[in-house]
Amino acid sequence: MTFAATVLTLYPEMFPGPLGVSLAGRARDEGKWSLETVQMRDFAIDKHRTVDDTPAGGGAGMVLRADVLAAAIDYARTAHPDAPVIAMTPRGKPLTQARVRELAAGHGVTILCGRFEGFDERIFAGRQVEEVSIGDIVLSGGEPAALMLLDACIRLLPGVMGAPSSGSEESFENGLLEYPHYTRPQEWEGRAIPEVLRSGDHAKIAAWRKSQSEIDTRLRRPDLWERHEGARVLPASGARREKKD
Ligand code: ADE
Repeated sequence: MTFAATVLTLYPEMFPGPLGVSLAGRARDEGKWSLETVQMRDFAIDKHRTVDDTPAGGGAGMVLRADVLAAAIDYARTAHPDAPVIAMTPRGKPLTQARVRELAAGHGVTILCGRFEGFDERIFAGRQVEEVSIGDIVLSGGEPAALMLLDACIRLLPGVMGAPSSGSEESFENGLLEYPHYTRPQEWEGRAIPEVLRSGDHAKIAAWRKSQSEIDTRLRRPDLWERHEGARVLPASGARREKKD
């Protein structure tokens, strides 16, 4: 099955960009995923091909028009009715590896790239669109965020990644950061590779990696650690313990 990516954008020339090389580029050449860009301006309804207008209530910047967005979405939906439509916006739900996995297991994705101040909010009531953010930062547009989302999906498609295990052991797959890696030379600028990794004792190495993964997550990402610990102590039903007054 080919994973079909459709990107609705004002800047189609930004694609495939980095997805045209390396792993993703090769996978696309091999037909494991496809990319179609759709110029949103083609769905404008005036002779100037206007896609945006001033914000209601005043303020800086411009807002993408709901009618133009809807026409572009409807066009993409006709070709790919099963693909979820995702709008890249800093107001969206933070992207997670779990959601990436779900998307990668599907038929593809249609991505709406915002520009200017964002989308007319009515598009989210008028069409089924999932709002997704790639982090608490503000980009100049949704295109780099779309490239990130697609990159994360493409590497998980069957046959794209070299070693199959590298997808399941890595950061976030078990709610933790991945353990640190080392390679030759054995000593570099007076720093040695941890002895255990040279021991050949696979059980010991696995235990060390697990422990490092836990330590690093606790120190670097207390938010992830808290969630991980919370999931571990909660009963299987997910029910929360009654809080005492
Ligand atoms: N567009 C601008 N900033 C963004 C973000 N953080 N995530 C997704 N899309 C964006």
